[in-house]
Amino acid sequence: MFSARTAWDRTQNLLAARLETLERRGTTPIDLTVGSPGGCGLAPDEGWLREVLARGPLATYAPEPLGHVGARQALARDLTRVGAHLEPGQLVLSASTSEAYAWLFALLCDAGDSVLVPAPSYPLLPFLAELSSVDLRPFPLPEDPLGALDVDAIADIADETTRAVVLVSPANPTGWMLGEADQVRLDALCAGREWALIVDEVFVEFPRRGRPARSVAARPGEALTFALQGLSKSAGLPGWKLAWTAVLGPGPERHEALARLELIADAHLSASAPVQRALPDLLSGAPSWRAGVALRIEQNARALLDARPPDAAWDVMPSAGGWSAVVRLPHTADETEVALALLEAGVQVQPGHFYDFPRGRWLVLSLLPTPPRFEEGVSRMARTLGRRFSRG
Ligand SMILES: Cc1ncc(COP(=O)(O)O)c(C=O)c1O
Repeated sequence: MFSARTAWDRTQNLLAARLETLERRGTTPIDLTVGSPGGCGLAPDEGWLREVLARGPLATYAPEPLGHVGARQALARDLTRVGAHLEPGQLVLSASTSEAYAWLFALLCDAGDSVLVPAPSYPLLPFLAELSSVDLRPFPLPEDPLGALDVDAIADIADETTRAVVLVSPANPTGWMLGEADQVRLDALCAGREWALIVDEVFVEFPRRGRPARSVAARPGEALTFALQGLSKSAGLPGWKLAWTAVLGPGPERHEALARLELIADAHLSASAPVQRALPDLLSGAPSWRAGVALRIEQNARALLDARPPDAAWDVMPSAGGWSAVVRLPHTADETEVALALLEAGVQVQPGHFYDFPRGRWLVLSLLPTPPRFEEGVSRMARTLGRRFSRG
């Protein structure tokens, strides 16, 4: 009765089962996997949100498939902060970035076509691709957060079914960031092969190490390019369900893409009208909320480095952006065993294979928890790792 593509393995993983047992016994480990700022004392101000929503009409409905013009004009102005100079007509609104991926897969791929994706990467991508009957082909991301992409390796894994390359920049969870030189080389590859370039920039507003926040839309090239972002990360409002896709590239392809996207969007009309009307005000208020998150990220990133003894056998990987930190364990480590041992020690982290890391020796930590919880969590982690991987 059901489709083969939704026959996913739903068996509970070892960590979830262990966590359930611990919680049944009344033990709740410190959660260093939390992905939403709202759960960490960083929710946008409730009063301000009520006020913003109440400013526009709430009952009228005049659907515009690509999104309300006023909302897209405000977005085009706001995106100049990340270096993009766009016409409102280059922006497409959807309910979420996930939905934007589905629309782009529908726009670019027929069943069985393939898309090249980074590994490690965002865990939802394989599900989104499968739901669209698209094959994913992984290519490796550099470990250095500012390291050059191996564009030849990307070209090598492609075949005649390939339709697009996806990048997440800053990458989730490694914090790798697409630099201008890589963008130029990738643009040439994609334009030459008639592939689209899809860049998920949901964390673009959260650069680290003094990097500027810069969108791929700052430097449109010759390839048809889509840059994705949304309120979920840029304003801390995942529940308000609004995201945007900037469509860039040479005129004819761009116009055709927008005309087709308009029909796809018209079939859904999924972006909420009151939230679209509130968008100009939300965009004006978002920078102060982001500043609070950026401060939290910096503080916790420093606490993680401080928790690492100088002679530790594990490392904190450098990152150029985003909300996560990655810990590299010694070669001999089994990340699932380590994550289970950490649960016993009262701290919950994610093993790297949740994100398609190679070789099983990586842990992923959220940098969002409140500083006292985070510091206690990483000190428990450092003690456990110290006992497990003592040098000599
Ligand atoms: C890289 C990346 N892209 C997209 C999303 C989802 O965004 P949205 O809530 O707009 O679907 C997430 C959420 O964590 C993410 O990490």
